[in-house]
Amino acid sequence: MIIVLFGKPGAGKGTQAPLLAAALGVPTLATGDELRAAIRNDTPLGREAKGYMDRGDLVPDSVILGIIKQALGEPRTAKGVVLDGVVRTVPQADGLANAVKELGKQVDAVLVFDIDDDEIVRRLASRTVCEKCQTPYTGREPGTTCDKCGGKLVRRKDDEPEAIRNRLAVYQKQTAPVLDWYKKQGTKVATIDAVGDVKDVTTRALSALGA
Ligand code: AP5
Repeated sequence: MIIVLFGKPGAGKGTQAPLLAAALGVPTLATGDELRAAIRNDTPLGREAKGYMDRGDLVPDSVILGIIKQALGEPRTAKGVVLDGVVRTVPQADGLANAVKELGKQVDAVLVFDIDDDEIVRRLASRTVCEKCQTPYTGREPGTTCDKCGGKLVRRKDDEPEAIRNRLAVYQKQTAPVLDWYKKQGTKVATIDAVGDVKDVTTRALSALGA
């Protein structure tokens, strides 16, 4: 099962991805997490991606397609994968479709997490993430401790107000058109109300998948 999680920055993709993956028995792939790990490890990929990410711009398609192809070739994704924020442009959607076709597979569904901009700004302005395990929190101060692994919570550079505004604009211009592309391909596209209790959102998403 290959599921694409879609939605504005802060819609809850990263929160829902592991919950859905656990319920479906498949792993996750989050390009944002892969890129942040590359930055932490100071790899050539990380050095290339950092400027784009700090500003809230998209990293070039060629970089993302490289990450997608590598992950799909790994044994861990043989049974399927939940793709968190992996597809943000039409060329990426097209490249993913070709890569999965070569493996005799297809994208089974696109889940769109629906949320208005005011709620996004509220969530991202008060978000911290664990610098060790990347778990996101709302309303917890930087420097406090992660409940899951004991790591330190930090504020993401792209959660500064100017970067949030840019990410929302980039979503409208470059990412939102991908949904029409999927609809034209005949791929199942389901819109999920992303506001409310995290567990309720997971239940809505699983129900849209018929799982
Ligand atoms: P990425 O890390 O994927 O950032 P994003 O898409 O902007 O998404 P976020 O992580 O901000 O939000 P989310 O939807 O995952 O929400 P979350 O669960 O964290 O990408 C970062 C950057 O990498 C991009 O800007 C780009 O530069 C680059 N990049 C990555 N992929 C790329 C690609 N394919 N192409 C090109 N460039 C790419 O939740 C947000 C907050 O809300 C958290 O605090 C959380 O605790 C809280 N929350 C979640 N659910 C709820 C709820 N139900 N109720 C209340 N609070 C909630």
